[in-house]
Amino acid sequence: MRAPLCLAHHGTEVRLTTYLVTGGAGFIGSHLADALLAEGHHVRVLDDFSTGRTENLDPRCEVMRGDVCDPAAVRRAMVGASGCFHLAAVASVVRANEDWLGTHRVNLGGTITVYDAARALGGVPVVYASSAAVYGNVSGVAREDATPAPRTAYGADKLGSEQHAGVGLLVHGVASVGFRFFNVYGPRQDPSSPYSGVISIFARAIGAGEPITLHGDGSQTRDFVFVADVVQHLVAGMQHLADRPGAYLLNVCTGRETSIRELAEAIGVATRRKPVIKDGPARAGDIAQSVGSPRLATITLGLHERTSLADGLATLLASLSGQRSLERV
Ligand SMILES: NC(=O)c1ccc[n+]([C@@H]2O[C@H](COP(=O)([O-])OP(=O)(O)OC[C@H]3O[C@@H](n4cnc5c(N)ncnc54)[C@H](O)[C@@H]3O)[C@@H](O)[C@H]2O)c1
Repeated sequence: MRAPLCLAHHGTEVRLTTYLVTGGAGFIGSHLADALLAEGHHVRVLDDFSTGRTENLDPRCEVMRGDVCDPAAVRRAMVGASGCFHLAAVASVVRANEDWLGTHRVNLGGTITVYDAARALGGVPVVYASSAAVYGNVSGVAREDATPAPRTAYGADKLGSEQHAGVGLLVHGVASVGFRFFNVYGPRQDPSSPYSGVISIFARAIGAGEPITLHGDGSQTRDFVFVADVVQHLVAGMQHLADRPGAYLLNVCTGRETSIRELAEAIGVATRRKPVIKDGPARAGDIAQSVGSPRLATITLGLHERTSLADGLATLLASLSGQRSLERV
């Protein structure tokens, strides 16, 4: 039977289920923490606040400030947890290329530190963030069975995280789900994010009537996935492990391709302003096409609905303009 991701009952006593969220003060992690709290769980956050922010965190979270590469800190944070959501990373392709060793320490070393603590504590299930960056330049729709070919240090470390997760199950009995996130967007995203920060940047410029400059002609495509959908996948992934322990790899995407030019136009529609679009110099190494297949995640986790770009943009724009106070945006 599916173990409910809710309050655990022990006789007459009702005990809170504790989940550890590494990187819980960040963009995606803080939305996940909110969802877990809303389900009645106790949420413990391990974060070094390098990019995470206290304002992102619900005060009900138990916060442990620490480095995910520190085995003692990770183990302390995981004691008593029913599962670990591992999102802490240097989530920047540019930084990973510049500081190859430093980001490797966090993006792969930190991940193995998490798996090792999970092993030491008797096989705590781990749901972790991988990335579409493992695919590199796939032509057509990226499916999980495509041969990975990362083109960045960041993507290589995410691929390494997936491979160590496989070893974690085989050798140490640690069950996991690795989610290959495509371009996640939503409230609380840092506008400098290489993934979807472009949405906040465009929205501000279009709202202010300023021109926006595309890299090249804006025909490069991305698969933009709303943060609430990502949270649903993460939670469903943890539930799935309770039923069927394994080492899974699943895309988190919509299957819809949006060019950057179309994105600018969609933001124009949502803000009721006609965008002034200029073509700029193309960016070296920019991936021309990125779109994933959501099919395997849909089948495995039973998640059929994904937020449309129009609806996700409306929610994001409302939060940016302060029209609607979306939690602690
Ligand atoms: N945003 C996207 O579109 C996207 C796409 C693919 C993958 N991802 C992955 O999703 C995860 C979350 O990304 P995000 O967009 O929320 O980024 P984010 O920068 O907002 O969150 C990362 C969090 O990790 C923390 N952190 C970084 N180094 C740490 C360390 N050494 N010890 C402890 N905490 C540390 C940061 O302070 C931050 O709170 C990351 O693993 C990222 O690689 C994100």
